[in-house]
Amino acid sequence: MFIVSIAALKKNTAILREVKEAAGCHLVLALKGFSCWKAFPYFRDDLDGCCASGLWEAQLARDYFQKHVITYSPAYDGADVEKLCEFTDHLDFNSLTQWFRFREMVMAHPRFKSGELLCGLRVNPECSTGETALYDPCVAGSRLGITAEQLAGADLTGLSGLHFHTLCEQNSDDLEKTLLAVEEKFGHLLRSSQFTYLNMGGGHWITKPFYDRQRLVRLVREAQEKYGVEVWLEPGEAVAIHTGVLRAEVMDVFESAGHRLAILSISATGHMPDVMEMPYRPDVFLVDSAHSGERPAVMLEGENYHRAGERGEWTYRLGGPTCLAGDVVGDFSFHRELKIGDILVFDDMAHYTMVKTTTFNGVKHPAIALQHEDGKIEVLREFSYADFRDRLS
Ligand SMILES: Cc1ncc(COP(=O)(O)O)c(C=O)c1O
Repeated sequence: MFIVSIAALKKNTAILREVKEAAGCHLVLALKGFSCWKAFPYFRDDLDGCCASGLWEAQLARDYFQKHVITYSPAYDGADVEKLCEFTDHLDFNSLTQWFRFREMVMAHPRFKSGELLCGLRVNPECSTGETALYDPCVAGSRLGITAEQLAGADLTGLSGLHFHTLCEQNSDDLEKTLLAVEEKFGHLLRSSQFTYLNMGGGHWITKPFYDRQRLVRLVREAQEKYGVEVWLEPGEAVAIHTGVLRAEVMDVFESAGHRLAILSISATGHMPDVMEMPYRPDVFLVDSAHSGERPAVMLEGENYHRAGERGEWTYRLGGPTCLAGDVVGDFSFHRELKIGDILVFDDMAHYTMVKTTTFNGVKHPAIALQHEDGKIEVLREFSYADFRDRLS
């Protein structure tokens, strides 16, 4: 079961609210990172709306967040643009070919004419500050965003915003470097009266304790003053980090070639794909009578948690119940022998995990629940054979 803590979400969004108020900018939730919409009412007052990666997320934002909607997709089709023009507030395009293809349709729309719908371009400042190529939209040949060279001499009539997204789990020093590149390559556009908004994307790790929020506030204020634009931030991870867990049951334990193996009720590839894609090693806790002091994001009444370590006597390779040989979370050491029926808690599984799950191999999809501020658990959704069947035809 996935359990998301309302208290933890509210703690994050209170920080985000404080930051955006200090900076005088707007801040929206990136739905691609967290879109458990039944949790939205608990924190929507803190944020200005949502950013969507296309029509479906934009519809979710409109229907369940009911505030500002920003839509950006690497490519739209005509039918999607037609529908988006009806309700999105910002519509950002990834290439000049996309903009030229749709600008006549967009600019003829009454919402564009009345100024309710604003259009922008995603630009590529070509300033890599991260460490993982998979998450770097500034690499040479990137398909994400328009470079200054591509933009030179283009007819930009009808546009009023620029959008960049270059960060991933980064501090505001990297934003500062990026803004220098933005100034060098696109400053002349931002200074012109035609451009009224600058979207600084996501990847700002604002709710991490070590994040330098004061510098973010200064950078946003400086950009607003220098360019006379509205600044928008669209974090996903910073909203939902450390707010949820995935609970699993140990279904089998045995040994093979000197390795202790545990097969779980959840799958790495099906339910925690970033563990394999990023890749990363999640924190794992065993529900036990003894506790180790550290705590997962969601704790249930009457339970103690013992955090698994790197090496020790009771080391198990934790794997899922699918056919994929590599469906493995990793090797984790416990303070005691694992038994069938033990409960393991995978920490920090709300962001970019719940949005990516599948029913590969027909493995039962974990239920989704909220933990309310009084500690009570509300199960929002349990999945059945019918859900598995109906998604396939
Ligand atoms: C365009 C855009 N905006 C916002 C985000 C959210 O980023 P994060 O969850 O790292 O804050 C992403 C993530 O990939 C993105 O591509």
